[in-house]
Amino acid sequence: MSLVKVLLLEGDGIGPEVVTEAVKVLSLLSNHTDLRFELERADFGGLSIENHGKPLLDSVSKLALESDAVLLGAVGGPQWDGLSLECRPERGLLELRSDLEVFANLRPAKFFESLATASPLREELSKEADFIIVRELIGGIYFGHPQSVQIDNGVRRGVSTMVYDEQEIRRIGAVAFEIAQSRKKRLVSVDKANVLDVQRLWREVMNELSRDYPDVELEHYYVDNCAMQLVTNPSQFDVLVTGNMFGDILSDTAAALTGSLGMLPSASVGEKTGIFEPVHGSAPDIAGQEKANPIAAILSLGMLLEHSANRGDLGNLLTRAVDDVLAAGYRTLDISTGSRREKLVGTSEM
Ligand code: IPM
Ligand code: MG
Repeated sequence: MSLVKVLLLEGDGIGPEVVTEAVKVLSLLSNHTDLRFELERADFGGLSIENHGKPLLDSVSKLALESDAVLLGAVGGPQWDGLSLECRPERGLLELRSDLEVFANLRPAKFFESLATASPLREELSKEADFIIVRELIGGIYFGHPQSVQIDNGVRRGVSTMVYDEQEIRRIGAVAFEIAQSRKKRLVSVDKANVLDVQRLWREVMNELSRDYPDVELEHYYVDNCAMQLVTNPSQFDVLVTGNMFGDILSDTAAALTGSLGMLPSASVGEKTGIFEPVHGSAPDIAGQEKANPIAAILSLGMLLEHSANRGDLGNLLTRAVDDVLAAGYRTLDISTGSRREKLVGTSEM
């Protein structure tokens, strides 16, 4: 029997509802496998701001480091939008990522056959799409210095800095090359090397690294072209690697292609505890109404099992279960097309 310590950070909006459903799957797994889960919960994001005055307490970060994995819901909501960046719920997420040094964010975009009509793309375009975005998560413009808004001669001036050193590029590149080796051996690196110096370095280092992976074919796409290719020909992609901000943007596009943002899981990994969270946000407009789609959270649990419990088989099992449930016609609002063959269900029934 092996014990997995999971810290639940449910967060805000629909976060608690979708994590609750993933936890039901966890209990099922404890009953039917040799895995046992020790669960802890802590306040995070907006809830932590309300209860403790900041989005991430040091004690919670410490708890996360002592756990095998963090299962996270979502953070943010309109009631905290007026706060300064330093105090917002999102800051808690960035600090947690940084404290746990999860530099690699893996966002698989998998097309589910039965959701073909839920995708905004024509079926023949979205049908074969099955790729993974490897996003650098603790560097780039999200963390670069200087960053501020200052007043110069009575004029407000905002500065953010995109910075990567070659070591940061090499370590995320290595993760992507290895994933590519385990898949179709094709890697697309996404940059803006035609304009930005930091991105020229990105491309240079990716090229150097590719010599260590002669079996992987490396291609470079500019980010604007990549955004276009994702919606015109998504099936060409297998593994993409990119920096923090481009990865943030492209992964929402990727999620929408597969039918709904409510379907996409993610894993954020490094040398320490990994964080597993749905790609979707806190969706405050539908929170507490039994409308949220729990599939992304459940698939994130699948990634947790693969990466933190070494049970990729159980991760695959969850993916197949999701496939079956969709094939049987069950749909939450976000993936429903209104067809008569579908059964519209709420969060917990799904
Ligand atoms: C994501 C989110 C976060 C990000 C926000 C909530 C800080 O959009 O995980 O994609 O920008 O990384
Ligand atoms: Mg995002």
